[in-house]
Amino acid sequence: MQKLGSDLQQSALALVEGETNLVANLANLSALIFQLIPGLNWAGFYLWDESARNLVLGPFQGKPACIRIRPDRGVCGKAYTTRQVQRVDDVHAFTGHIACDPESRSELVVPMLWEGKCVGVLDLDAPSKKHFSAAQARELEELMGKLMPLIWR
Ligand code: SME
Repeated sequence: MQKLGSDLQQSALALVEGETNLVANLANLSALIFQLIPGLNWAGFYLWDESARNLVLGPFQGKPACIRIRPDRGVCGKAYTTRQVQRVDDVHAFTGHIACDPESRSELVVPMLWEGKCVGVLDLDAPSKKHFSAAQARELEELMGKLMPLIWR
């Protein structure tokens, strides 16, 4: 799998610059990521709802998806509870994986961390196994670290 390169990072940071509306920024980021990372079938955000205590679907690109995810469920729930990036080579081998789109075969979930807490996740799905590299996971984690102070204020 190719490196993300600086294109995505630079474009993402430029895209949110000067805009404080969270929904608009997440919508544009999901569209950018979907366009620039090859081979995805879904890219989007789930945001933590403290009163309901689950993750709720946010802006995304791809097929309609499940709306609420409990923190003890799925790859997204694991990324939320561990606050660690989850890179799953084959979702069929991940116990508890939530199949929103049956085409999805590998998945990368990056936590959105703010003041030590996980406030949501970025979820990327691909229809091929082992689609995401460890380097790509690190780059997306780094990008999220740079984006959070710009979008979550
Ligand atoms: N597969 C995810 C659920 C979200 S969808 O892929 C969009 C999971 O297991 O958490």
